[in-house]
Amino acid sequence: MSNTEEEALAHDDADPGHRHLFHVPPAEGGRYPEVAYLAGNSLGLQPRATRDELLADLAAWSRLGVEGHLEAERPWLPYHELLTAPAARLVGARPAETVVMNSLTVNLHLLMVSFYRPAGARTRIVIEDSAFPSDSYAVRSQARFHGLDPDATLVRLRPRAGEDTLRTEDVTAFLAAEGHTVALVLLGGVNYLTGELMDIPAITAAGRAAGAVVGWDLAHAAGNVPLALHDWDVDFAAWCSYKYLNSGPGALAGVFVHERHLGDPGLPRFEGWWSTEASTRFEMTPVSRPPATVEAWQISNPPIFAMGPVRTSLELFDAVGMPALRERSLRLTGYLERLLDEVTADRPLTVVTPRDPARRGCQLSVRIGTGSANELTKRLRHEHGVIADAREPDVVRFAPVPLYSTYHDCWRVADALAATVEKHS
Ligand SMILES: Cc1ncc(COP(=O)(O)O)c(C=O)c1O
Repeated sequence: MSNTEEEALAHDDADPGHRHLFHVPPAEGGRYPEVAYLAGNSLGLQPRATRDELLADLAAWSRLGVEGHLEAERPWLPYHELLTAPAARLVGARPAETVVMNSLTVNLHLLMVSFYRPAGARTRIVIEDSAFPSDSYAVRSQARFHGLDPDATLVRLRPRAGEDTLRTEDVTAFLAAEGHTVALVLLGGVNYLTGELMDIPAITAAGRAAGAVVGWDLAHAAGNVPLALHDWDVDFAAWCSYKYLNSGPGALAGVFVHERHLGDPGLPRFEGWWSTEASTRFEMTPVSRPPATVEAWQISNPPIFAMGPVRTSLELFDAVGMPALRERSLRLTGYLERLLDEVTADRPLTVVTPRDPARRGCQLSVRIGTGSANELTKRLRHEHGVIADAREPDVVRFAPVPLYSTYHDCWRVADALAATVEKHS
């Protein structure tokens, strides 16, 4: 490669990131002690601070038993509130609009209880054809729940023939033409497969102008790209915390509901004792008094030991700040793109992620022309210590995560691909 390893190392000296705050796994192959970890879009690395913070919460339980609800250093009863302000800052929301709870698909269902209300001719749900399967299963089951045929209810937006990603103008044109039949638009902010960053404000505006509710699955967007959910007038959103938010496998998820819906007694909602105003929680009354905040969507008392890692991670994002992370992300992903351009030029590999940095986060997805994506990622791991992830049949995803990935990691990806994938004959 014309881009040398020395150049990559020099870039790292000039633009070091925050790798020292994370545990980087040892490599099981290749010539470097640590892996080049490019799978933070699937599961982020563990922040070094997480273990001690978690142990401190566990210690409170062993020392205080039930009294920890009020007397722990971080009392458990209001513990979730510690996560609210940093989560709100991360997604550009007001604290009253943001809560961390449950997992992503569960939250999408709870939100659809309120926001998918098919009526008359307005019954359809718009998703991307390449939506993450869980979202597709979730919306199909919601259609069935309302007595509708999922095949007739779902609109799956596809890219134009010969293209890999959606065009904003096609999505907004569809909504202008057929939006009167649409009850809900539920799209991925960043598509999990292609890495395409959707124009969230434009699509939200088009959906709402057509009279539909517009929600976003931000699993691949939260902690990856700057968001301004409140100002963009998004109706609702949900995201997980185990990818870019580095909060551990199956970590708790976030929810946003726009202020204009808060306190609306006309919205159906499922309730439990955490849906009632906190001050009334122990009055043991049979009827809840929900607050005019998104906390009205909470149901159960939160799992404290699952909240600790999210809190620790959100503090990290607060300290570094999304604007600085986005700047580094643009530099790092741009660098990987330049390296991949060289490697893919004479090999059966194509980057399918948009080339415009404004239309993507940090992930670059590569379509392979021969062989299997699974086989390629296994070889990258075992022969080169490069961790990427495969989406069968033919996509391998690489995400240089601005918090902890390095230019040298990017160089190792390109070097490993060059060594593993044969050139066109
Ligand atoms: C875009 C998207 N939506 C939904 C999910 C499902 O998340 P969960 O299993 O946490 O509900 C994922 C998981 O990777 C995802 O990437």
